Amino acid sequence: MQRLAWGLIGGGQGSQIGPLHRIAAAVDGRFVLAAGALDADPERGRDFAISLGIDEDRAYGNWREMLERESARQDRVDLVTVATPNALHCEITTAFLDAGFHVLCEKPMTMDLAEADAVVDAAARSEALCAVNYGYTGYPLVRQMRAMVRKGDLGAVRVIVAEFAHGFHADAAEADNPRIRWRYDPALAGQSAVFSDAGIHALHMACFVAGQNPVRLSADLVTAVAGRELEDDAAITLRLEDGATCRLWTSAVAVGRVHGLTLQVFGEKGGMRWEQERPNQLHWTPLNGRTQVIERGDPDLYPEAEQASRITIGHAEGLPAAFANLYRDLAEVIQARRDGREPSPGTLDLIPGVIDGHVSVAAVEAAVESARGGGRWVDVARPHHNAVGVQGRT
Ligand SMILES: NC(=O)c1ccc[n+]([C@@H]2O[C@H](COP(=O)([O-])OP(=O)(O)OC[C@H]3O[C@@H](n4cnc5c(N)ncnc54)[C@H](O)[C@@H]3O)[C@@H](O)[C@H]2O)c1
Repeated sequence: MQRLAWGLIGGGQGSQIGPLHRIAAAVDGRFVLAAGALDADPERGRDFAISLGIDEDRAYGNWREMLERESARQDRVDLVTVATPNALHCEITTAFLDAGFHVLCEKPMTMDLAEADAVVDAAARSEALCAVNYGYTGYPLVRQMRAMVRKGDLGAVRVIVAEFAHGFHADAAEADNPRIRWRYDPALAGQSAVFSDAGIHALHMACFVAGQNPVRLSADLVTAVAGRELEDDAAITLRLEDGATCRLWTSAVAVGRVHGLTLQVFGEKGGMRWEQERPNQLHWTPLNGRTQVIERGDPDLYPEAEQASRITIGHAEGLPAAFANLYRDLAEVIQARRDGREPSPGTLDLIPGVIDGHVSVAAVEAAVESARGGGRWVDVARPHHNAVGVQGRT
């Protein structure tokens, strides 16, 4: 099979998320890192790109140069990942979509709803795919939960409790540390801090598993560390489109929590619980029955989960493998388009897309408005296009 050419923007040396993308894209051998504009500093970016094996003439000093020169090539990159800080996502993603490149954009897709509308419009104009890196959906047991809901194992979903709470910004003495301070500065972070950064992962996972998007919400945003302008803790109740309620807690001051992304889903016929720190076990309790532990790699998982599982049962499997599932799905869809065939069934549906990106940004905007109004219920804006690019549940 021919390898696909992959381009990366951001994710330079020392970045947090860059190494994960590079590992994930390489795992299945379907992408080769062919081009990049990896750093805010052009020299550093070029040097690092060359050290990773990118040819000198495709180690770009900035993303505009990459756009121009890749657009002119016959063998241009098949997929561009945008892993820069948030404020650049909209401009870069729309520019590459408009030039016909498939894009995987980091979350949050944009800084605000107006920008999210602009990306949705660009995806609607373009033939290209627009995916958003809600990479936690690549965990096999998250896909198992989604399949269980779809197969009706839970009956109607009634209540979801979604959490993404950590304690890394709890120390008031560290509030002025520049690596932390910018996250609570509206000029750099936008209108929300912890919900926009962490909480939207929990929200997206709830929507992905339940197959429902939020229609309205009530939010309580709290600034626990004095002097911060944006929230470091939030409790949000959301009503989803098919009637489920999602109660979401996200925090950056939850001392003792590390990477506390967890999801509990309660339906008419049973309940289930999954924690990202223990990703290989899913607790499932049928109504009036005993709690069972479903292991990643068990022989009777649904196909979506079985196909996402890469290592034999009992061995650790984690975030790089989850992200790799997203890259594998993208490779399948891009290759299918090249071959003029349909992608393998269900693949497109598993990829978080531009609608999912929009849903999250719209929820952030609604939460800020709700909190300012003392928690009043606010509608979550819907995108005005429904069937675009790689789409989520609309
Ligand atoms: N999906 C996830 O689970 C997840 C996890 C962490 C971060 N993220 C997202 O990834 C993005 C990057 O986060 P990070 O923690 O890696 O940030 P970071 O600050 O660690 O790294 C950002 C990188 O982007 C580069 N950069 C900045 N401006 C650039 C430009 N104009 N052109 C090219 N490169 C540029 C920087 O030089 C740096 O290498 C953010 O949007 C963040 O929300 C997602």
